[in-house]
Amino acid sequence: MNQTEYEVFLTHLKNHYCIDLFSYKQSQLQRRIDSYMVRKGYESYRELFQKMKCDSDSVEELIENITINVSNFFRNKEKWEILQKEILPYVIKKNRGKIKIWSAACSSGEEPYTLSIILSGLLPSHQYEIIATDLDSQILDKAKKGIYHERSMIEVPKEVKLHCFDYVDGMYRIKEKYKRNVRFQKHDLLLQSYGVNYHLITCRNVMIYFTEQAKDSIYKRFNKALVQDGILFIGGSEQIIAPNSYQFKVTDKFFYQKI
Ligand SMILES: C[S@@+](CC[C@H](N)C(=O)[O-])C[C@H]1O[C@@H](n2cnc3c(N)ncnc32)[C@H](O)[C@@H]1O
Repeated sequence: MNQTEYEVFLTHLKNHYCIDLFSYKQSQLQRRIDSYMVRKGYESYRELFQKMKCDSDSVEELIENITINVSNFFRNKEKWEILQKEILPYVIKKNRGKIKIWSAACSSGEEPYTLSIILSGLLPSHQYEIIATDLDSQILDKAKKGIYHERSMIEVPKEVKLHCFDYVDGMYRIKEKYKRNVRFQKHDLLLQSYGVNYHLITCRNVMIYFTEQAKDSIYKRFNKALVQDGILFIGGSEQIIAPNSYQFKVTDKFFYQKI
């Protein structure tokens, strides 16, 4: 497909729909857009954009097709053990009021529900809240339902599986108790403003898709969104180079503390 037309297409998306695809690593993104177009029978970026102008559902459909939503409960289990045994007890001890947590780019909800399961063992439910956000509205609808296939459960400890889920028609349904403190919201990390006073932000397995410039801006904004000494929990292959330059220090390999 034509490269100039591709760039014009991204510019149109940014100007007309506030979708910033320039901030994603381009080779991978373009491959995903191209294969979506082949599947749907679009012959040019221009044709896809014309379709979007008369059918707003096709904008959401494109987002759904180019975002990578893979997730599972307790993803990289050993990191969650550190969160449960070291990080959260520290956060709770340090802050007397309600603990405010942001699960950014939460996909289908496994990450915020994992947080909810862990926190329910550490605090009464009125003492914490979890805000879970993602760019993709369709994946958020799935998250709100809280029903999961076996593949989302591969790292879930047996006793958690038994206590926190109902097994219905071959699927795992998270119990209501763990849904109550989780609030889902559509949010774009690249273009929208961030909240404040979070004690913990989890943002895992999405930064790998962004350009260095986008990452730089996001880390700075995460820092501002955290309370003093607040913690940022990142994904397994997303270590921050020079955390000092964002006013973070490493507490454990995947946890950064605001300084
Ligand atoms: C691979 S999933 C990560 C899910 C979860 N955090 C985990 O680690 O299992 C990446 C998520 O990032 C979301 N995403 C991509 N670009 C985004 C953006 N600009 N703002 C917010 N979320 C975004 C995608 O929709 C997708 O659900």
